[in-house]
Amino acid sequence: MAMKKIAVFTSGGDAPGMNAHIRAVARTCRARGVKCIGIVGGYSGMINGKFIKLGKKKTANIISRGGTILKTSRSKEFIKPGGRAAAAESIRESGIDGIIACGGDGTFHGAHALWQEHKIPIVGTPGTIDNDLFGTEYTIGFDTAINTATEAIDRIRDTADSHGRVFIIEVMGRHAGHIAMNVGISCGAEYIAVPETVTNLDTLFHRILKQGRKSRTIVIVGEGDEVGGAADIAKLMNEKFDLAAKVTILGHVQRGGSPTVRDRVLASHLGVAAVDALLQGQTDVMIGKTYNDICYTPLEETWAKQKPLRPFLIELSDLLA
Ligand code: F6P
Repeated sequence: MAMKKIAVFTSGGDAPGMNAHIRAVARTCRARGVKCIGIVGGYSGMINGKFIKLGKKKTANIISRGGTILKTSRSKEFIKPGGRAAAAESIRESGIDGIIACGGDGTFHGAHALWQEHKIPIVGTPGTIDNDLFGTEYTIGFDTAINTATEAIDRIRDTADSHGRVFIIEVMGRHAGHIAMNVGISCGAEYIAVPETVTNLDTLFHRILKQGRKSRTIVIVGEGDEVGGAADIAKLMNEKFDLAAKVTILGHVQRGGSPTVRDRVLASHLGVAAVDALLQGQTDVMIGKTYNDICYTPLEETWAKQKPLRPFLIELSDLLA
């Protein structure tokens, strides 16, 4: 049976480019003669039947905006089978034939369960600043986040340089070091601590000494590092080497702001591809992009398979530190 109504929603941590994605989905639906619905508030909105029509007007002038016009949530109710059953019922009642779920691994766990248990066709699109999903080279929001973080750290570098201080700066990336590694290289950091490599405080101290205890030193820490966050590492460095360092946690500033060109183009391309994938009968897959080609990865693989940090990036970070 041909699909007549497709819904899109955003879920988990918001990511710059989600609006460009929603816009692309709505406009592709229009071009293909399919109705487009927006589910407001992620899985919670699905359970509570918060559906809106997504036409050309509603999606005008949003391509440059950060956040998500459809809002987002991390729904506790949807984790339970009863919550998913309620969501499935409200989807069927509203005549939605297929769904596009834009988010990260938590979102995809939910989407996979909805397909397994209720056979509602659903595809995922990678929307997270963490870039930690297997099956796509980049996720929507990653490029903006690393550019935002780089800009902020360039400012810190100025003051660090003026005072001759050591700064330990924490960036996001729950379990993965993609943000930290890319930002660290782009800022010329002296040391980059990520969960994928063993953080060695002696090496870190050595690099600081190489600069001079009272010289500007930038250390980037991915929040998921096995030693801890920036505050933990600063505390340990103080206890072990009597080193006073300033700590900055960039936090949610990395999630906001107008998306970069790369994120807008990626989000738009994946939006078109997601609608077409549903119309072609795909389900339970993530629509990703590798080397300019659209590819489909079973949702389960996107979180079960590791997306490693590129080894050449790790080499670069050591060589250029
Ligand atoms: O998954 C994206 C992300 O921004 C992670 O980098 C971070 O650990 C997490 O979300 C923070 O989530 P919340 O905004 O719910 O605190």
